[in-house]
Amino acid sequence: MHIGTTLTNYIIETQRGIQGATGEFTGLLNDIATACKKISALVDKGDLVGVLGSAGSENVQGETQKKLDVITNEVFIEALSHNGHVAGLASEEMDEILELPKDAPRGHYLVLFDPLDGSSNIDVNVSVGTIFSILKAPEGVQDPKTEDFLQPGTTQVAAGYCLYGPSTMMVLTTGQGVNMFTLDKDFGEFLLTKEKVHIPEDTQEFAINMSNMRFWEAPIKRYVDECLAGKEGALGKDYNMRWVASMVAEVHRILSRGGIFMYPLDSKTTAKGQEGKLRLMYEANPMSYIVEQAGGASTTGRQRIMDLPPKDIHQRVPVVLGAKNDVERVTRYHNEG
Ligand code: AHG
Ligand code: MN
Ligand code: MN
Ligand code: MN
Repeated sequence: MHIGTTLTNYIIETQRGIQGATGEFTGLLNDIATACKKISALVDKGDLVGVLGSAGSENVQGETQKKLDVITNEVFIEALSHNGHVAGLASEEMDEILELPKDAPRGHYLVLFDPLDGSSNIDVNVSVGTIFSILKAPEGVQDPKTEDFLQPGTTQVAAGYCLYGPSTMMVLTTGQGVNMFTLDKDFGEFLLTKEKVHIPEDTQEFAINMSNMRFWEAPIKRYVDECLAGKEGALGKDYNMRWVASMVAEVHRILSRGGIFMYPLDSKTTAKGQEGKLRLMYEANPMSYIVEQAGGASTTGRQRIMDLPPKDIHQRVPVVLGAKNDVERVTRYHNEG
């Protein structure tokens, strides 16, 4: 594929030759691209169109919703519900899965999404994103139930995110590596700008919310202490640290220049009956698929994330992802402890 080709062309090309391909998947990715372009336009306009600030409501996650959490969720539903490419939708911002309108045509895919990731950053004009995970609906199922969405990450047929940063970028995997597309806002197309990205096995950059240190388990504390000890410590090299508080931006940085990202188990969340902060179905699984496809690794510290059998649509999990050797080291510390 040549650099500069459109996302649509890229999908058509990669689908060509796949037996039984009907164009439905191509249509679905186009719907998602359309939703992301709309969200990008809203994020760009920001305060000019009054979309910033709180919506005054709370979602099923117990988070105060930003206006844009609600609006972007609607944009996604609108772009995906009427075209016959999906059988059902699930979102971080909806208590239950979304059943399609009775008269809407049905497709074969399930889409799970985090419409606005890093939404605490929206009011301070820092990068936010959208994350999506695509599954196949079980054979013959037209009106899926929640159980039909509870498939392990290994069954994803595609996953991606759109980053609304200084430029808008769509990053996508369909299981053949990871490619990056940049939105040309002059004519409204995503164009291929980086092919087959690779995360270096080793890193000297970690990302974690250090304010939670006192709540972490010993293995994470040990690894971060070693990063902080630098050249003089067990790792024998100096580390740099970043924390954007938008997972999309962190993962994008790791795909672009390497690194490790951690949102580990902590006693603050276990006290609330949750295992970690990030959502398995809308954040951890799609990001794990992308990271693994780029040669990185992704675990809870104890188990590969994509192997987890989901128990709940809004399930939370600890996440450690990025540079293979560092992720393996953190896993080893968990196993030793
Ligand atoms: P969301 O805005 O979709 O609720 O997700 C926010 C997540 C993730 O993007 C980020 O890595 C993390 O929460 C930030 O957490 P802290 O507030 O603890 O920094
Ligand atoms: Mn949220
Ligand atoms: Mn999120
Ligand atoms: Mn969100």
